[in-house]
Amino acid sequence: MRAGAPIVAIALGLAQPVQAQSAYSDVPEPIRAATCARADDWSARALARSLAPPLGLPPVAHPSDNPPSRAKIELGRKLFFDRRLSINKTMSCAMCHVPEQAFANWELQTAIGVEGRSTKRNAPTILNAAYYEGLFHDARDPALETQYLAPLLARNEMANPSAGGVIALLEALDGYPALFAEAFGAGPSLDRTGYALAAYQRSLIAGDTPFDRWYFGGEAEAVSDEVKRGFALFTDKADCASCHTVEADHALFTDQQLHDTGHGWLREQARQAPPAATRVRVAPGVVHEVPLATIAAVSAAREADLGRYEVTEDPDDRWKFRTPSLRNVGVTRPYMHDGALPSLAAVVSFYNQGGAGHPQQDPRIRPLGLDAGEEAALVAFLEALTSPDIACLAAEARIEPPDNH
Ligand code: HEC
Ligand code: HEC
Repeated sequence: MRAGAPIVAIALGLAQPVQAQSAYSDVPEPIRAATCARADDWSARALARSLAPPLGLPPVAHPSDNPPSRAKIELGRKLFFDRRLSINKTMSCAMCHVPEQAFANWELQTAIGVEGRSTKRNAPTILNAAYYEGLFHDARDPALETQYLAPLLARNEMANPSAGGVIALLEALDGYPALFAEAFGAGPSLDRTGYALAAYQRSLIAGDTPFDRWYFGGEAEAVSDEVKRGFALFTDKADCASCHTVEADHALFTDQQLHDTGHGWLREQARQAPPAATRVRVAPGVVHEVPLATIAAVSAAREADLGRYEVTEDPDDRWKFRTPSLRNVGVTRPYMHDGALPSLAAVVSFYNQGGAGHPQQDPRIRPLGLDAGEEAALVAFLEALTSPDIACLAAEARIEPPDNH
């Protein structure tokens, strides 16, 4: 597809002064890896973290056939950043899961793959993905060892024509056979590529948040009274914690289940009956009402997304999506499976209104009657779930960049 907004801007002949990106008041500060001390032993730290997670997180379940090691983690990182693993050698995993954007992508509602091809879902953060029992927004893959094949082969992501071709490439690329031999005592293979990527991603865990220090660490001053009020609403009046669960000694903020919150249904109604005009931001503070026909002429049509139904074809699974963890949600905008909600305030307001209210919606999603102060307290609580370690994780990801571009 061709990119929408810039072409629309040209078509409208706009002559607005160009401002620095910082003029967008709602763009978060980038995560500054430079604030973290250089750690030449980064893979030792990564290994230690995946064996003994920070406050608030349970142990990582390493599969018995893939115990982590420094060599696997180093190889996994190199693979994760290697653009040569896409059909035209332009796109790596890290380009959709950007370390400086908390291993998510702040700029795109839905990810864009090689040659600008659209996808229909938002790229979730890889941070703490180690803990999911089912990966992807529809939980369709049970393990990080196998998950990587989907982006590697999807025509609108890395677009490799075959998995075997990727292994043949790794065998031919300088450096890789030796790194595989060091990590596994054998050369590149599909299994071993998955093992290495999984070991690296299982080291990307981030806890020890202000919430953890208060709730699990007993530090009364770690969070404000507003955050404490927000947490009380989260567990009680707003009932968020019945899906975004909190245990006695740790919290993943996910029940690992799939639910219909109403968001997917609402988005499908909007897709079938789109508004006659869309608000397009063409420059900071400059928003235009652009007619549907103009948008349609420059964009690919949005695809339907039936969520878990696309995995099971069971009508009861329509519009069900996996409950995402809320850890680090303050720095992983935009939100929901399609990135349609731009801010935490928008998500809280969606829940407060009771979702879509259609018949299949989970009954826990209902009008909540929260006042403005209560909505703000919930947002403050969600923002207290940001780990202070993310800058160092981004720094570790970039130290001694492997020579692979
Ligand atoms: C074109 C952008 C893009 C690229 C390149 C990409 N991903 Fe993703 N990633 C996504 C999107 C979008 C999803 C969600 C897809 C879905 O739910 O169907 C996702 C989901 C994931 C998940 C699941 C996370 C969760 O919360 O369940 C993992 C793990 C992951 N990607 C790892 C990788 C790895 C490893 C690579 C490289 C081999 C990679 N990704 C390449 C966009 C991308
Ligand atoms: C019935 C289970 C359920 C309840 C109750 C629930 N959620 Fe969710 N939540 C989900 C599911 C499922 C998603 C993913 C929806 C999607 O991707 O379309 C989600 C998504 C989110 C997201 C977006 C996360 C991201 O990374 O995109 C936030 C934030 C969130 N919920 C906060 C809350 C808050 C705050 C409450 C209480 C007001 C709440 N949730 C109540 C199941 C639930």
